[in-house]
Amino acid sequence: MNATATAHPNIALVKYWGKRDEELILPHQSSLSVTLGPLQVTTTVEFTGKKGLDQIELNGKVAQGAERKRVEEALKLVRLEGGKKLGAAVMISRGDFPAAAGLASSAAGFAALAVAARAAAGFKRDTKAESILARRGSGSASRSIEGGFVRWNRGKRADGRDSFGEQLFGQAHWPDLRLLVGMVSREEKEVKSRDGMRSTVETSPYYPAWAKDAEREAKEIVRFVKRRDLEAVGEIAERNAWRMHASAMGANPPLCYLKPATLAVIEACRQVRQQGVGVWFTLDAGPNPVLLTTAKDEARAAAIVREHGATEVVHCVPGGDAQVIEQHLF
Ligand code: DP6
Repeated sequence: MNATATAHPNIALVKYWGKRDEELILPHQSSLSVTLGPLQVTTTVEFTGKKGLDQIELNGKVAQGAERKRVEEALKLVRLEGGKKLGAAVMISRGDFPAAAGLASSAAGFAALAVAARAAAGFKRDTKAESILARRGSGSASRSIEGGFVRWNRGKRADGRDSFGEQLFGQAHWPDLRLLVGMVSREEKEVKSRDGMRSTVETSPYYPAWAKDAEREAKEIVRFVKRRDLEAVGEIAERNAWRMHASAMGANPPLCYLKPATLAVIEACRQVRQQGVGVWFTLDAGPNPVLLTTAKDEARAAAIVREHGATEVVHCVPGGDAQVIEQHLF
């Protein structure tokens, strides 16, 4: 009873920021992301059929603390559905990209875990059930089960059964799109997304406006993604990122994830656009901007982030679905 799965991270073009239910991880608003290839996490899960504690290893280290608890919870949910006979699990997970600030490794991690654990428990593939399980580990993971462009619909139900990621356009829809992660800082961010969004919901007077507007933007952006209109997609992505950060800056105490280098990159994007270079930015809850561009302007976009202190630029393209594979990690 073991299975292995791979999943890619994703970058939200319309962000998820704030939960209406902390335990079930239900968002206040819908969000939309693009899956990032070729970066990926590979996870093997085995249910041993024996009693005992789960053994969990993440990137070569035994998982501890809150991280361990989140994985245990996800495994528990699979046992709840598959039966106690599954017993304790052994899980090993490895990512091929740095778990640095701004690149949500938890999204790919919980997506790969959800697919591997359900397969190891003997369930057939079911992207909706996998997305709901991944969501329970980390909200954004609900958008990494399927490739291409995925919208996590907010849903209305209190039990969260209508809150999952749904593919709107597949990986092949926009092959020319490029997403460049500029690593301007490798420090762990001071306030994790989970705590930052909670504080924003609880203390920022701008939060209700953010949630209402983001819900609208998660719908508005679809027609521009559909026609591969980078300018319109880029404008919405930038505005949405600013509004998310504005809501966070309005929290008490204020939350500012931007560093001087982040602002320098943002300003440079604006300037080169005036010279006809098609490059826009988005920013998660960290200092590392992700630039949206196309193949023809990719080199110019990479130069912008390097000129402003990025030590590394990670080049991504739209990625595919999470997959069950036969190459197990143990
Ligand atoms: C800013 O999914 O990491 O990256 O649900 O608490 O685990 P939890 O949070 P997480 O938050 C991601 C927030 C974001 C925006 C996004 O990816 O939509």
